Amino acid sequence: MGIHDGKIVIVTGGALGIGGGASRAFAGEGARVIVADIDTDAGHQTVDEINAGGGEAAFVQADFSVPADPRRVVEHSVAVFGGVDFVFNNVGIQPRSSYANAEDTTEEMWDAILSINLKSYWLMAKYAIPVMRGRGGGVIINNASVQGQQSAPLVPAYAASKGGVLSLTRQLSLDYARQNIRVLAVCPGSIDTPLMRTAISGEAGEDPEDIDMAVLGAGANSPIGRIGQPEDIANVVVFLCSDKASFMTGEFVNVDGGVMAQGAWADLGRAR
Ligand SMILES: NC(=O)c1ccc[n+]([C@@H]2O[C@H](COP(=O)([O-])OP(=O)(O)OC[C@H]3O[C@@H](n4cnc5c(N)ncnc54)[C@H](O)[C@@H]3O)[C@@H](O)[C@H]2O)c1
Repeated sequence: MGIHDGKIVIVTGGALGIGGGASRAFAGEGARVIVADIDTDAGHQTVDEINAGGGEAAFVQADFSVPADPRRVVEHSVAVFGGVDFVFNNVGIQPRSSYANAEDTTEEMWDAILSINLKSYWLMAKYAIPVMRGRGGGVIINNASVQGQQSAPLVPAYAASKGGVLSLTRQLSLDYARQNIRVLAVCPGSIDTPLMRTAISGEAGEDPEDIDMAVLGAGANSPIGRIGQPEDIANVVVFLCSDKASFMTGEFVNVDGGVMAQGAWADLGRAR
């Protein structure tokens, strides 16, 4: 018995990283999972792993920079599993080549980041909500970031996309609360995923051992003293979709090892 027995969830970017963790966690709680991802090999691997372990999952290849694909993914979920109860809008990119100030950011890069990280979240909501309404309600969880609240140098498009995700979350929650559709966001801190390792390789170089050390270092600098794992986010997302969170909507949850609790002036060494 799982807390999501019989429910149907779509995870965008559901093959690897946080999305892969969420696909496995939902399946572990009895949900039927649509893994929607651009990476066919990784997507099939995640789905095969879930099905071999007694779960139920199906892969649909999708490119969330293409406006037609969210609708196709929702239609696929209806065709394969008969509906949609939850959407985890998780897909996101932060290419190394996007690190630039506003002057040096190209329009192509801005549009690529905003279309995947923000526009696809709205399009998934647009097409999933009518299906959810027909089933009596649903939950949408949007993956934002602590960078939707505070930022770091040289990430104008990524930071804007994540701020936009938090604003979209509040808006959808208001517009659909009376239709029993809850909308929430999670804000991960540093989570050990391919995206995080690519981002860190800019400073650490390409040597895998140097990247391992940089990942450990990023964790050591957080109040909790370790890097996050995809499961840390997935467990919270699974909870937020459950009836135990039925009075929550329009809110975001930091899952960051305490990073957002810390002032820039804080001397963390004193507390250790
Ligand atoms: N890792 C972190 O430290 C961190 C921190 C804060 C927020 N986030 C957010 O969490 C989300 C997931 O990040 P992650 O670290 O797991 O990323 P990741 O790059 O490790 O995994 C992303 C997944 O999305 C897929 N994908 C990429 N572009 C796609 C596209 N155009 N269409 C379909 N699928 C596509 C990839 O194939 C992969 O399976 C993102 O929204 C990211 O901004 C991550």
